[in-house]
Amino acid sequence: MWGAIKKWTGANSSIKTREELVKEIQTLKIPEHVAIITDGNGRWAKKRGLPRTAGHAAGMKSIRETIRAANDLGIRILTLYSFSTENWKRPKEEVDYLMKLPKQFLKTDLKELIDSNVKVQMLGSKEKMPSFTQQALLEFEEKTKNNTGMILNFSINYGARDEILFAIRQIIDEVQKGNIEKEDINEELMNHMLLTRGLPDPDLVIRTSGEIRISNFFLWQLAYSELWFTDLMWPDFTKDTFYQAIHDFQNRSRRYGAV
Ligand code: IPE
Ligand code: IPE
Ligand code: MG
Repeated sequence: MWGAIKKWTGANSSIKTREELVKEIQTLKIPEHVAIITDGNGRWAKKRGLPRTAGHAAGMKSIRETIRAANDLGIRILTLYSFSTENWKRPKEEVDYLMKLPKQFLKTDLKELIDSNVKVQMLGSKEKMPSFTQQALLEFEEKTKNNTGMILNFSINYGARDEILFAIRQIIDEVQKGNIEKEDINEELMNHMLLTRGLPDPDLVIRTSGEIRISNFFLWQLAYSELWFTDLMWPDFTKDTFYQAIHDFQNRSRRYGAV
């Protein structure tokens, strides 16, 4: 039976149907910004005797399902960490394959994203990418730029240390030009210089694949994010896993250093 999913939080592990869980989620505070480190495609494939690229292909289904689930719940911002600045170190054929995915995704999913009022944005430099990848990413941004619903960030060729260094250089520029004083450097200014300018920090960060690390993602922004880990590989991540993460988040107490 599809509907029975385990409720992980609390002392009792009562069984709830998907509908019951979603209903409960909707009565509680929905996180404004959810970010996901979508990890484990390679291991998912390896376990099945398939090439790593087959795992990346399978992961696209999870991306689609998660976007739909997030949009249906009314989450305002969903960020998917899809390719890090360190992922260029992978074998060329794997990188080449990954660089083809945006164009494919454009063909299969752009229409649905437009129709569901999702605004797609890229966090990361397009510079090192093949031109057809850059084109596809630009088209996502261009064709959805007037949408007013959920913001969907793809962190592609994203690295938090790069982002912070870039911000520091911009700030120094502004000081040197005399536009600001050293004393004007504060959190607000820093937020303004980051790629996430104008967006709230993630309330919840999900990572799949059993790795308990951040891997150069949002180092500034996740100062007070709630972290949620699952051993599932990304292609095995479903909307039910997503609902579980959201529900767990809703049952946490965020103190921000206060009591
Ligand atoms: C995540 O899966 C996708 C990318 C980083 C591009 P991986 O490719 O890292 O899969 P594992 O972690 O090796 O299993
Ligand atoms: C993190 O996964 C980055 C993305 C999911 C894009 P990695 O597979 O690159 O991270 P490590 O190497 O396990 O830390
Ligand atoms: Mg990985």
